[in-house]
Amino acid sequence: MKKDKNRIYIFDTTLRDGEQSPGASMNPKEKIIIAKQLENLGVDIIEAGFPIASEGDFDAVRQISREIKKCQVAGLARANKTDIDRAWQAIKVAAQPRIHTFISSSDIHLKYQLKKTREQVLKEAIAAVTLACSYTDNVEFSAMDATRTDRDYLVKMVEAVIAAGAKTVNIPDTVGYAIPDEYGRLIAYLFANVKNIDDATIAVHCHNDLGMAVANSLAAVANGARQVECTVNGIGERAGNTAMEEIVMALQTRHDLFGLHTNIKTEQIFKTSRLLTQITGIPVQPNKAIVGANAFAHESGIHQDGLIKEKSTYEIMTPQSVGITDTHIVLGKHSGRNAIAQHYKKMGYDLAEDQLSKIAARVKDLADIKKDIYDEDLEAILYEEIYRGKDKYTLVYLNVVSGNVAIPTATMELQVDKEVVRDAGFGNGPVDATFAAIRNITKTNYQLLKYAVNAITGGSDAQGEVTVQLRYDGYSVIGRGAHPDVIVASAKAYINALNRLEFLQENVKAKKVKVE
Ligand code: KIV
Ligand code: ZN
Repeated sequence: MKKDKNRIYIFDTTLRDGEQSPGASMNPKEKIIIAKQLENLGVDIIEAGFPIASEGDFDAVRQISREIKKCQVAGLARANKTDIDRAWQAIKVAAQPRIHTFISSSDIHLKYQLKKTREQVLKEAIAAVTLACSYTDNVEFSAMDATRTDRDYLVKMVEAVIAAGAKTVNIPDTVGYAIPDEYGRLIAYLFANVKNIDDATIAVHCHNDLGMAVANSLAAVANGARQVECTVNGIGERAGNTAMEEIVMALQTRHDLFGLHTNIKTEQIFKTSRLLTQITGIPVQPNKAIVGANAFAHESGIHQDGLIKEKSTYEIMTPQSVGITDTHIVLGKHSGRNAIAQHYKKMGYDLAEDQLSKIAARVKDLADIKKDIYDEDLEAILYEEIYRGKDKYTLVYLNVVSGNVAIPTATMELQVDKEVVRDAGFGNGPVDATFAAIRNITKTNYQLLKYAVNAITGGSDAQGEVTVQLRYDGYSVIGRGAHPDVIVASAKAYINALNRLEFLQENVKAKKVKVE
């Protein structure tokens, strides 16, 4: 089949580089939910994880490899036999497996981190690709810190790994140092000087340290790169990676300029973004392009006037094109099971009977205390009831006394594994007292890094969405909770963070390696 020269392949690394965002660790169940949504979204390659990093990572990559059929599934490996063998063990069950192996190429990394010569590193890169190719012909090689690498050495390395069999060669801006014009010229230089460059797809992987990840990726594709590595909501190490939604919509909206296209079903973008936020608890800033709450909100009178007359005056893409529909009142106290199922279906979720039973009960409870129920409320319930992994701690009962004369006191019961434990806590206010009660019951005392409350929808009976971030031994985790009573939402968020910490302690702490 003839290769489509104008096709940009989307390589999603939300589950690998994205998971390296502080607080973004996901359990295997959550990773599979994200992977399935990435498949619905139409990404070409899912980087499922770094199998050598821990047993948890290995299992998650293997499970994703089993479940995903329409996308390629990549496992990351450093350029050595142990990593590559482990990555292959995890992905070999995939319908379309890919080994992604990498080694640093810049002198700065060679001298201070690897303590190896250029010749040694070149040899290791070739050996790694050769070994990976003995397992599969779908091998990607990344020259880590490529943008700070001597150009002619980079040419030599790219040429050598292509000759060894790499079908994709990635030129990462690992530290987010590049500037668009300069990065575009680097890609053009490789096309002009690597003799066998047409035998591989050139990929780009940009970090956002100077806020230029998307711009750099665009400069690269304008100069011949055809695979873009990115993450949903731009999450990732430090300032994050190229945001999937931004690069995809830039290519689509400016098709006149680039003449390039992806396979992404853009109407799935918003749902994917919300799902990731629900799972990781990492909120999207309101002014974030494409998926932020204000991305399509027009405040100024002049803009509103123009929009009423003709949408294209101030709208370069429609909210519908990224899957944002009007938030409308959907369900209330008298909605039946069928109406609830139908509405979830319209939102893109097909619920099994047992899932519907759990959710219908929650929707009815919510309808008792909240007049109108919106899509966002339904999403929050879905997440809490269905998507969350098995929890160690569950809230059973909470009673809080507060006011300007009482000492704020919280009495609480938590289910801890199979046992119900009761205790109380005092504090400066109702939230503080609630957290003290949780700490007493769970006998934990982690540093609270962040506490934030948002209203999920409008109205004074809106559900409060609380985010809590706790620190543990150099790691941090984020918990989320939603309820019309913000104190209950706060308790749920804190408990969710503790449950995530449990998972982190069991699995992520065992990680031996971390990459950019
Ligand atoms: O930023 C980077 O260089 C990476 C590589 C592993 C591709 O994440
Ligand atoms: Zn990276």
